[in-house]
Amino acid sequence: MNLPPIIETDEIICQCYQVTEGTIRRAIAEKDLTEIESVTEACDAGGGCHSCHILIQFFIDEHEGKSTAMEDLVHNHAQKVKKKGILSRFFKKY
Ligand code: FES
Repeated sequence: MNLPPIIETDEIICQCYQVTEGTIRRAIAEKDLTEIESVTEACDAGGGCHSCHILIQFFIDEHEGKSTAMEDLVHNHAQKVKKKGILSRFFKKY
């Protein structure tokens, strides 16, 4: 399963810090960020419950031209989520 190819850029991805997709993608592109921690330093996204780390990694991978399967993203990031907020529907499956 992959994420839908189009996500609204004004959609808030990081609920903890109210950071939109556009802000996250801009930070990744402008500074060529390759780590979630770097994205958090740049725009605060991902600094709270970690629920958005899956999507932040997805945006990083897209920026790098990688095709990422949702199963891999969930497998790699689900364990560190402190509060299963906006992505709880994905975690039910895994
Ligand atoms: S939703 Fe981004 S850190 Fe909680």
